[in-house]
Amino acid sequence: MAYEHEEIAKAAAQLKEKFGQLDDKRQILRAPELTALYERIKEIPAGRRASFGKEVNKLKAEIGKLVEDNQIETVHLAPIDVTAPFDTNIRPEDRPALLPAEDGTRHPLMSELETVLDIFYRMGFSAVESREIDDDYHMFTSLNFPPGHPARDEYDTFLAEDALIAPAHTSIMQNRVLKGGKPPIRAVIPGRVFRNEDLDARHEHTFYQLEGVYVDEGINAGHLIATLKTFLEEYYGQSLEVKTQPFYFPFTEPSFEFTVSCPFCQKKGCHVCSYTGWIELLGCGMIHPNVLKEGGVDPEKYTGFAWGMGIDRLVMMKYGIEDVRHFESANLKFLRQFQ
Ligand code: DAH
Repeated sequence: MAYEHEEIAKAAAQLKEKFGQLDDKRQILRAPELTALYERIKEIPAGRRASFGKEVNKLKAEIGKLVEDNQIETVHLAPIDVTAPFDTNIRPEDRPALLPAEDGTRHPLMSELETVLDIFYRMGFSAVESREIDDDYHMFTSLNFPPGHPARDEYDTFLAEDALIAPAHTSIMQNRVLKGGKPPIRAVIPGRVFRNEDLDARHEHTFYQLEGVYVDEGINAGHLIATLKTFLEEYYGQSLEVKTQPFYFPFTEPSFEFTVSCPFCQKKGCHVCSYTGWIELLGCGMIHPNVLKEGGVDPEKYTGFAWGMGIDRLVMMKYGIEDVRHFESANLKFLRQFQ
């Protein structure tokens, strides 16, 4: 609404701004700007006083209407109770139960991960969480896969806009862990990873890995093998045989595939080990000097080992679970067996 008197127009603008900021809108009716205008009436020269007074009243009415409209709106909006999708007037004991009255259970991967981490803590490692979205640098370049390197094809995963990547392995954390501390570095890194896979009993598009990184002076492949063997024997509670075969990863040199005697059948042959007695469990190796250098660690002074193992796989071998898809299936009959 337009006001002829400049003083009133100015006060009107101030009051409207104030109105927007007030929690209790009724307070605007006692605003000093409004009272001051009433005080001013008597000082206005007689010729303009009447029209001035009329306009002050008009402003007060306008403000009063604003307050009223606001009150009406508040009163008439039905309250929304986001916690209860039922009539809130019904007595609590008569309301429908939202969930059956029973406790949930922990997901087996999470409780097993706790057991796994506890073993590594006892071996002097700390845990760092991985992440579920990352970039090309951490997924590839920092791990000695230059752009266009054919080994990138082994890690076919999901790309988001802005070149963001759903990580295909927890090795994305190696560069961060190396940059984040001074040797000795001993870290295990659990995380969820993603692959563009054809799904079957052994392949899921989403699964969990545990990365390990150990860097210090004088570290060699013997330390790597001993660390993994010790961990596996502790986790499965029995003596195991292990074998390494040469393999290729851009980020380790030399690289190995780590094979373990079947903890489910003790090499007798069963469905877990496809009746071979052995299971190819994980990839590992001595960290490539380029990866150390990129992580700010002097490869002339330090060496280290790393590994990446599938947590789902580890748990499947412990309990004889035949299909990896059970883990993400939300099948309660399966999940409730792991209380
Ligand atoms: N990132 C590899 C994969 O997912 C596994 C792996 C191999 C991790 C060797 C390592 C390593 O840290 O040294 O296939």
